[in-house]
Amino acid sequence: MQTQQNIIEVSNLVTKYKDRVIQDNISFSVKTSEIFGILGGSGSGKSTLLSVLIQLKKPTSGSVKIFNKDIWNESESVRSAILKRCGVLFQFGALYSSLNILDNVGIMLEEYSAYPKHIINEIGEYFLNLVGLPNYVKEMYPFELSGGMKKRVGLARALVSSPDILFLDEPTSGLDPRSSENFDKLILKLKDELKLSIVMVTHDLDSIKDATDRFILLESSKIAFEGSLDEFKLSQTAKLDNLLKSKRGERLWREE
Ligand SMILES: Nc1ncnc2c1ncn2[C@@H]1O[C@H](COP(=O)(O)OP(=O)(O)O)[C@@H](O)[C@H]1O
Ligand SMILES: [Mg+2]
Repeated sequence: MQTQQNIIEVSNLVTKYKDRVIQDNISFSVKTSEIFGILGGSGSGKSTLLSVLIQLKKPTSGSVKIFNKDIWNESESVRSAILKRCGVLFQFGALYSSLNILDNVGIMLEEYSAYPKHIINEIGEYFLNLVGLPNYVKEMYPFELSGGMKKRVGLARALVSSPDILFLDEPTSGLDPRSSENFDKLILKLKDELKLSIVMVTHDLDSIKDATDRFILLESSKIAFEGSLDEFKLSQTAKLDNLLKSKRGERLWREE
């Protein structure tokens, strides 16, 4: 088997808001073609970490290499080229309420490609279909869709530019257990079909179980664990208790 390359390498990362330390000298790496989880309780710094990876927040110190480039020490043009290879599904979907679903999905192509409108629409329809949405949603508006459907629209939008890395912030939060499971299955399917590497922020241990290859657990500004769920179960039994508060989490452990 070929050894997997690191697609993301974070070294000695420190992030702060004013004087408040959110990440205190953390290091980890994400391998090509894996689904990598960032797990932690509310306020543990998951979204902050994600915003450093997608160039929305500059770290205080440390380095973040993506595609082997130290992103915070590169020129604007290199940084924007890196960003174009990254798709992002934000925690709250971030759909434009005044645009219909098809226009929401196509907006990045509208802004950054030279494609004519009818091609953008065709690409948009293709991706709406790929994420499992019925064709009729394309003319609807975000407020008319359920939470799970909105997440899928956000996912379609993140995929239209054919990213190499897909970043997902709490993709299953606010969804009922069945929709969450279906969403996790969809992520697995898309990963294989589109050859994606995926970084998934979650506080949902079931998503970790169902969808990720490896994960880190953020706690008190540090990484409390890095590895697979099996390794976690063997080595970190004490930490499990803290993580089993969610309903889906309880189910995970009852199954065994
Ligand atoms: N823009 C900001 N300014 C100041 N503090 C922030 C900001 N964003 C988040 N925080 C604080 O940083 C901590 C980590 O937040 P966040 O990364 O959103 O955590 P999580 O995504 O794990 O819930 C929280 O205590 C939060 O209140
Ligand atoms: Mg968050």
